[in-house]
Amino acid sequence: MKNILLTGTAGFIGSNFVPYFLEKYPNYNLVNLDLLTYAGNLENLKECESNPRYKFIKGDICNRELVEFIFNEYDIRGVIHFAAESHVDNSIKNPGVFVQTNVNGTYTLVDVAKKYWMEKPFTYKPEYQDCRFHHISTDEVYGTLTDDPNDLFTESTPYAPNSPYSASKASSDMIVRAYVETFGLNCVITNCSNNYGPKQHDEKLIPTIIRNALKGNPIPIYGDGKNIRDWLYVFDHCKGIDLVYHNSKKGETYNIGGRNERTNLQIVDRICTILDEQVPKETSYKDLITFVEDRAGHDRRYAIDATKLEHELGWKADENFDSGIVKTIEWYLGKYLI
Ligand SMILES: NC(=O)c1ccc[n+]([C@@H]2O[C@H](COP(=O)([O-])OP(=O)(O)OC[C@H]3O[C@@H](n4cnc5c(N)ncnc54)[C@H](O)[C@@H]3O)[C@@H](O)[C@H]2O)c1
Repeated sequence: MKNILLTGTAGFIGSNFVPYFLEKYPNYNLVNLDLLTYAGNLENLKECESNPRYKFIKGDICNRELVEFIFNEYDIRGVIHFAAESHVDNSIKNPGVFVQTNVNGTYTLVDVAKKYWMEKPFTYKPEYQDCRFHHISTDEVYGTLTDDPNDLFTESTPYAPNSPYSASKASSDMIVRAYVETFGLNCVITNCSNNYGPKQHDEKLIPTIIRNALKGNPIPIYGDGKNIRDWLYVFDHCKGIDLVYHNSKKGETYNIGGRNERTNLQIVDRICTILDEQVPKETSYKDLITFVEDRAGHDRRYAIDATKLEHELGWKADENFDSGIVKTIEWYLGKYLI
């Protein structure tokens, strides 16, 4: 049996990843560290609670003493690091906590891993040779793209983060990179595009659209609604993480994205069309769309070139936006219509 530390798993992506990983790898014990901020919800992990290979610890990734205790107590042999402050709007209102959690928290984890697994730079302790640190990051570190459809983020696109959120994630990527280059720590980084699917926090775009529509409230859309994101169904992200964690070479970075570029207007239009069919009201949900003042520094377009992951590790998204959004809406109807 191998003990793996997963951070931030009471949030959106982590809580989709844990049941998948528990089921796929019966030889792993998963130790889950999450502070349960406003974004973390143990309901998301209810299905795992009775599994003897699942352990939950409430705590802060910035708490070095706690992180060291966990490594020692559970003899941690791998880390998959999801924990972060993740909402761009919050990073505009309160950047400090983003620097604290995303930068200092990542530093704490990677530094404790180095000390626990390694004797000296580029020399692992004999029994820890295969231990790996996987840092989950975002495509937002690359900044914004032009409208040219051939303009895509690759792994060699220079970092140019524009929001405090993306700047803190870019900084955390750089710290992880430095631990590879300076100490020879076995790390990998994945930079993923916008995820959607079950268990996402109410504050994010797609749950906000569905919730407001069902309540008959205005559906707020920033600016002209023409900002483009490359949407990936969360389980396809989980499968990409799994592939990279197990099969990538040390020090590699991979972009993960579904080749599903959509404007926010296309997203809201598609969701309203599906809701009009599934939960019809007298008037179309589209009548609720309301344009609101744009987000400060709002990046115009993100789009991922996932060729490296597809060619080197054989990853392919199983869902496209049209199939994934139907499953997603079904899940939120279960949540919001109770
Ligand atoms: N959601 C996306 O579309 C997306 C896309 C690309 C990358 N990412 C990255 O994936 C990771 C997970 O994103 P998410 O959408 O699931 O985020 P989320 O906000 O839904 O969940 C974050 C989790 O981290 C926990 N957390 C926050 N601060 C903590 C701390 N100091 N110590 C311990 N736990 C803490 C929260 O309680 C929460 O459970 C993040 O690193 C994010 O940058 C997200």
